[in-house]
Amino acid sequence: MLKTKSCGQLTRLDAGAGVTLAGWVHRRRDHGGLIFIDLRDRDGITQVVFNPATSGEAHRTAEKLRPEFVVQVKGTVSIRPEGTENKALPTGEIEVVASTLSILNSSKVPPFYINEDVEVDENLRLKYRYLDLRRPRMRDNLILRHKVTKFMRDFLDERGFIEVETPILIKSTPEGARDYLVPSRIQPGKFYALPQSPQQLKQLLMVAGIERYYQIARCFRDEDLRADRQPEFTQLDLEMSFVDEEDLLQLVEDMFTAMVEKLCPHLKLIKPFPRLRFVEAMERYGNDKPDIRFGLELHDITDIVGHLDFPPFKAALAEGGAIQCLGATGCAGYSRRQVDELTEIAKARGAKGLMSISIGAEAPSAMEELKAEHVKSTLSRVLSLADFQAIAQRCGAKPGDLVLIVSGKTEVVRAALSDLRMELGQRLGLADPSLMAFAFVVDFPLMEWNSDTRRWDSVHHPFTAPVEEDMALLDTAPGKVRARHYDIVCNGYELSSGSIRIHSREVQDKIFKLLGYTEDDIMARFGHMLDAFEYGAPPHGGIAPGIDRIVMLLAGEKTIREVTAFPKNQNAVDLMTDAPSEVSPEQLAELHLCIASEDKK
Ligand code: AMO
Repeated sequence: MLKTKSCGQLTRLDAGAGVTLAGWVHRRRDHGGLIFIDLRDRDGITQVVFNPATSGEAHRTAEKLRPEFVVQVKGTVSIRPEGTENKALPTGEIEVVASTLSILNSSKVPPFYINEDVEVDENLRLKYRYLDLRRPRMRDNLILRHKVTKFMRDFLDERGFIEVETPILIKSTPEGARDYLVPSRIQPGKFYALPQSPQQLKQLLMVAGIERYYQIARCFRDEDLRADRQPEFTQLDLEMSFVDEEDLLQLVEDMFTAMVEKLCPHLKLIKPFPRLRFVEAMERYGNDKPDIRFGLELHDITDIVGHLDFPPFKAALAEGGAIQCLGATGCAGYSRRQVDELTEIAKARGAKGLMSISIGAEAPSAMEELKAEHVKSTLSRVLSLADFQAIAQRCGAKPGDLVLIVSGKTEVVRAALSDLRMELGQRLGLADPSLMAFAFVVDFPLMEWNSDTRRWDSVHHPFTAPVEEDMALLDTAPGKVRARHYDIVCNGYELSSGSIRIHSREVQDKIFKLLGYTEDDIMARFGHMLDAFEYGAPPHGGIAPGIDRIVMLLAGEKTIREVTAFPKNQNAVDLMTDAPSEVSPEQLAELHLCIASEDKK
């Protein structure tokens, strides 16, 4: 090794010891005679001092040092003179007095500061990701990610799971996104699909008798990117045989609880994890991945105002929609501009507008005593005082609150109010950042009607088992069939989906048909699954927590790019290597491909 100690290791107990350190020049300070450098490696920072009086050559070399030069230093650990200690550094009580210095490599001036935690344009960070990853925050994120996957591996190993790798070149598995396709050279005109998840393979491992499988699995999905979506991402994919929902939920609850308590003891949990039915999540929060760290819940007021002769309300009811509201705590004094901003948020989700009722701070605390002079509202000409009182009571509004109302199609109303809820939660600082509010969402419907394609879609994926007692409804009312599906959500993100699976050929075949697949499609795409189910497939189920999202939340980051070593940008481009890129005509010819001329740049 070119070093005997790391830069994060030395304390006053090492005083007098001879050491060799190697790393990067984090900072250099020239104090007249003495030169100081902060030497950085993955483990930390150590101050090194070059004294011209005692080691002239090392000092002369140190004059050439610039940030990010790679050096090796030999010297002696010394307690820092009184008053010069740095309490912020674990090594802040000592310094290494250098006797020799070797420059192992030089560095160009980096395109951004590595030694300061300043905002840097993300495109620049991604282009020079190897420099960005030198920054302590990014290094800590990668270390945390390593600890998370190690914890998962150890935890599952102790519970009898074995890790099995599954292929990356496979056949398409429907998870609701577009596939990434890989053309076959050997089989002209044929394509592999990169796995959207190892779903079918893990089920086939259950048929193979593995009983408890897991994998830190890379998944690929060609879909619109967001802060919590990458085209390739990682799941803790797991599957178990001879289990029911309770076994799986308990397993993941135990795992996440132990993981947070061990790796992030500064974070709090709600124990046991709350469980919400899908319908309840939609009604209370307007979405199936609620942030339950704060209230501001949605309330239906259709029964209070639905009879009114007011066109937006009438239109909502005519299309079978709803009129709903939420009470924004302490926002009665919002300016016109602030309300306009909220209106834009609602409109972005398809709402035609946003109505509001502002309840003056001087209003009585009992809302049944509210008077007209306490209320300012876009609906003053429409609603009576009794309506205002009833609405305020329904959403628990207090003096000084602003009630926001949306009417329209139920999905639109929920989406708009849910986004407003999240926005207000953030503005008002309602979500405790030290709380990891895990919750299970259960009792999902199996299928939903897609009015564009005029067919049923799986809410999760087509391998999810229906609830046994709802089986008869498959023939009469598929939309009413409940799924044996569960999600884990945390702080407004969906962390995992999972389910008990279908293991009978007949049921699986029936579901495929209900989803609109033809007999030929079924055999071509899923024949292997149906065949396998005829050879003693055990009852089984599983789940797949998204590792990127978990680490993002544990690290307190806002995007999964911050916890991914080499992510793609929002256009699915790797700015460092410039992928995707064009390939040579020879490569295309080998793959039996040609690019349509209008697609060429
Ligand atoms: P699902 O499609 O819900 O289920 O995915 C499970 C979890 O994977 C994460 N995830 C993503 N993370 C980052 N970028 C993406 N593009 C992305 N897409 C999904 C999320 C999500 O909750 N095979 C099933 C699981 C099962 O039934 O066992 C599946 O993949 O955290």
